[in-house]
Amino acid sequence: MCGIFAYTGKKDSVPILLDGLTSLEYRGYDSAGIFVAASGAIKAVGAVNNLKAKLPATPIRGMSGIAHLRWATHGEPTEANAHPHHDCQEDIWVVHNGIIENFKELKAKLISLGHTFMSSTDTEVLAHLIEHHLREKKDLEKAVIAALNDVEGTYGIAVSSKHEPEKIIAARLGAPIVLGIGENENFIASDPTPILRHTKNVIYLRDGEVAVITPSSHHIYTLDSVRVERDEEIIDWDVEQVQKNGYDHFMMKEIMEGPEVIVNTTRGRLITDEGLSKLGGLEMVAERLRLMNRIIVVGCGTAYYAGLVGEYMLEEYAGIPVEVEVGSEFRYRKPLIDEHTILLAISQSGETADTLEAIREAKRKGALTLGIVNCVGSTIARETDAGIYNHAGPEMGVASTKAFVSQLTALALLTLFLGRQRQMSLSVGKRIAEEIKALPEKIQTILAQKDAIRAIAEKYAGSRDFLYMGRKYNYPIALEGALKLKEVSYIHAEGYGAGEMKHGPLAMIDEKFPTMAIALSDSVYQKMTSNIQEIKARKGKVIAIATEGNEEIRDLADDVIHVPKTIEMLSPILTIVPLQLFAYYFAVKNGQNVDRPRNLAKSVTVE
Ligand code: F6R
Repeated sequence: MCGIFAYTGKKDSVPILLDGLTSLEYRGYDSAGIFVAASGAIKAVGAVNNLKAKLPATPIRGMSGIAHLRWATHGEPTEANAHPHHDCQEDIWVVHNGIIENFKELKAKLISLGHTFMSSTDTEVLAHLIEHHLREKKDLEKAVIAALNDVEGTYGIAVSSKHEPEKIIAARLGAPIVLGIGENENFIASDPTPILRHTKNVIYLRDGEVAVITPSSHHIYTLDSVRVERDEEIIDWDVEQVQKNGYDHFMMKEIMEGPEVIVNTTRGRLITDEGLSKLGGLEMVAERLRLMNRIIVVGCGTAYYAGLVGEYMLEEYAGIPVEVEVGSEFRYRKPLIDEHTILLAISQSGETADTLEAIREAKRKGALTLGIVNCVGSTIARETDAGIYNHAGPEMGVASTKAFVSQLTALALLTLFLGRQRQMSLSVGKRIAEEIKALPEKIQTILAQKDAIRAIAEKYAGSRDFLYMGRKYNYPIALEGALKLKEVSYIHAEGYGAGEMKHGPLAMIDEKFPTMAIALSDSVYQKMTSNIQEIKARKGKVIAIATEGNEEIRDLADDVIHVPKTIEMLSPILTIVPLQLFAYYFAVKNGQNVDRPRNLAKSVTVE
């Protein structure tokens, strides 16, 4: 949510900044802007290409600059509201991700002191506050720290001044900032993606820290101006992983990566002969885990739906009671937590504000906190007591696809881990481990049907409503399938547990309201076919996701997509794949930009 990128070095910063912004576009595309200390600023409404188009008319050059992509919170997506924002003298420029909650009071105070504001954003107060403190402190770092001590809310910022062009100051509180450490050049960004093509050496800032970079130095301080020493970390992602590699969209590339993602999530973690999973990230807390008697899973959106599948897995096979809740609700309840409770947070980005606050609340109440996180070094990864990294590689499409597949796989590994600590037998453990190993090949057979799935999606692409229904393990997949269609195609889609149809939703069904029914040959198959019949009796069209070999379902459904057989617990890892492909082709047929759905951003770092 909002992307920040900054460069200081010996090269022309403009192409570097634009390139960095392009690779961050999944974080926001309401407006884009850059400020280059030696020459000035350019801003444009919309995505980075609009900014690039303006460059020939306003050429700017310089070896240091800050850049921003906006996902609007305060103020409409206009050029005046685009970052970077500046002080009265246009000397100090600021880019910001987060929300300054007390900006109204600060703005009123600054106006009374004679400052003039050009935008309706909360961010602009930061530039004026720094200007205000600079008059007294006469030192940019000290003025930034003084300004930050005045604000309430969240921020990841980068600050540049015309008077000290080589220097850039960054700070974070609740919104991520990472430093990239190069040779005679240094970087600041919201996440490592734009840094990767220049250096793999990074330092993650922590909340309440300020960093000062020049081409040849980087220093970190606390908000009390105490120096902090922090080692660099090496990122193991490749530049190719953050490119489309010949696909039209990241979403398609990432769906196609499903088999490889499972291999990477499970690498070195399955001991098939012993029916065990070996999770290095949980070793430190393995003995404590034996004593735990309750799990609360917290996540948002897709990650929350992964948690719902986890509930079925963990209760059935590990025998531990599980509750699943969205982060934004959990933190406002009075959850009953004790030292035998695990709070399991699921998050691709590791930065989702609501999930993070849920972890902090659970920690205050004594829970053991675990994470299933994709982004290494992210805030959730650092703040949880222990966890499982997904190793799914960077996910660039705003709609989560491969991360979901990986989250489900990690939950299966966790189920095996906790189950074998408890009552799960060796033979059940072995069976689960063998079936997990077989998943990549099974996904491959689904991906091989992509043209057939495209034809079905195109056949239904004129529909304005869609119902998704499933039962048991595939109930959350109905929810996730509907979410995928909603977010990339903007059409009305609802996910339901099939048993709920008679309790209301069936009223919506007619010949224009098709249903995607997940009807595998499993313990709930008979019930699912009854539900399909109820839809057909109301003239509703049905696409069935069925188990390979089930041809009789063709008598019931209008269209059928087959998935290979696996154990019920792992079936969501297969059934989600055709639903992701369906949503992708449906949206592309309707001319939507699937990688950049309107109003959304990849990493939701504000509440
Ligand atoms: C939907 C989607 C979102 C995220 C949610 C949580 O496709 O991507 O619903 O799943 O914003 O994000 P993370 O997993 O980064 O915490």
